[in-house]
Amino acid sequence: MFIAFEGIDACGKSTQIQLFAEYIKNRGLTYTLVREPGGTALGEKIRSILINEDMNPRSELLLFLASRAQLVEEVIKPALNRGEIVIADRFADSSVAYQGGARGLGVGIVERLNDFATDNVYPDLVFFIDIPVEIAIQRLEKTQKDRIEKEGADFFQIARETYLKLAKKNRNFVIINGNEDIDKIHRRIVEHFELRIASLNH
Ligand code: TMP
Repeated sequence: MFIAFEGIDACGKSTQIQLFAEYIKNRGLTYTLVREPGGTALGEKIRSILINEDMNPRSELLLFLASRAQLVEEVIKPALNRGEIVIADRFADSSVAYQGGARGLGVGIVERLNDFATDNVYPDLVFFIDIPVEIAIQRLEKTQKDRIEKEGADFFQIARETYLKLAKKNRNFVIINGNEDIDKIHRRIVEHFELRIASLNH
């Protein structure tokens, strides 16, 4: 089973991924955790370029896709073949929301390029942790911001709206209210996961 966590910056994704990974481990299941961009030697190099260098939106998209293609071949496919649960800190939908939506490249073209980059390997379940943009901006103000995190409220607003559209369109998407307390968010994620596991066993 392949599970991705998505959301705008500062949505609380990393905390929830840690809690979820712990839950999976305690349940006796084996998982592989990956993050995007990165997760492979090549991907980590691409990540540092993406975070630090100025570039045009098409170059940005193609670098995210290059990192993703490597991650799929080197880590995700082998882990799924071993029967493990793959937990991804961002995947293809981040490019749709950020480059397709917020950068204005268009959802359709990014979806097609994602098909190519992922070799059509997609998550069974996507947890979209949704927070209002004002809260994201407040949280980001307290941290050292990278190139993308320095974008303004309008940018994150479009990314959020694009995610919400994807959630309507795609049945594997689950919207999680990221504005609740940490334990409650975790319980909701676990509930959805268990429902999905139960439906697979029937
Ligand atoms: P992170 O902060 O969750 O590690 O993600 C790194 C940044 O890269 C974050 O601002 C979101 C952005 N991003 C994209 O713009 N497109 C993508 O395809 C991915 C994976 C991340």
